[in-house]
Amino acid sequence: MAQQEFLPYAENMDDYSDKLREAQSADSMPQFFKLTAQLPEKGNTDTILAATERSWVVIKTYAEGGENTIHAHPNDEHTFVVLQGRANFIGPNDEKRTCEKYEGVIMPAGCYYRFESVGDEPLVMIRMGFVIDPEQDPLGRIKADGSDFDAYTSENKSDTLVLSEAVFP
Ligand SMILES: [Fe+2]
Repeated sequence: MAQQEFLPYAENMDDYSDKLREAQSADSMPQFFKLTAQLPEKGNTDTILAATERSWVVIKTYAEGGENTIHAHPNDEHTFVVLQGRANFIGPNDEKRTCEKYEGVIMPAGCYYRFESVGDEPLVMIRMGFVIDPEQDPLGRIKADGSDFDAYTSENKSDTLVLSEAVFP
């Protein structure tokens, strides 16, 4: 499959924010999307598939790891569904639950969590976010102490991206 068939993944947090704004459709027409992505050999990708002012859909891929440091999103409620691989979701008191393919979880706004890929193939998940207050940053992300936390940092154990030739699905 040719590279140009994939929507561009976000390069960093500012790029993610720009891509979200570009994808936000103000009209009330349906937005169709396809769950496909080029899989990483190393690192991870986030690709925004569709968005409105109050919601957005992302396909996430992880060669390994995940969102490895505990954090919360104060301005969005979001749902993850595992499409490939397996993920451990871990709560603030180290509560752990494994999600297999086609299992998922809703994270209420402000809920602290982290996750990691624990399958024997790259993890692929759909993430559907719903904004609480469209006047505030929908991508707000905080550490356990309440301070801002950029996902694209080594502190979040974000790895340098190397794409493979493999494709989901
Ligand atoms: Fe998160």
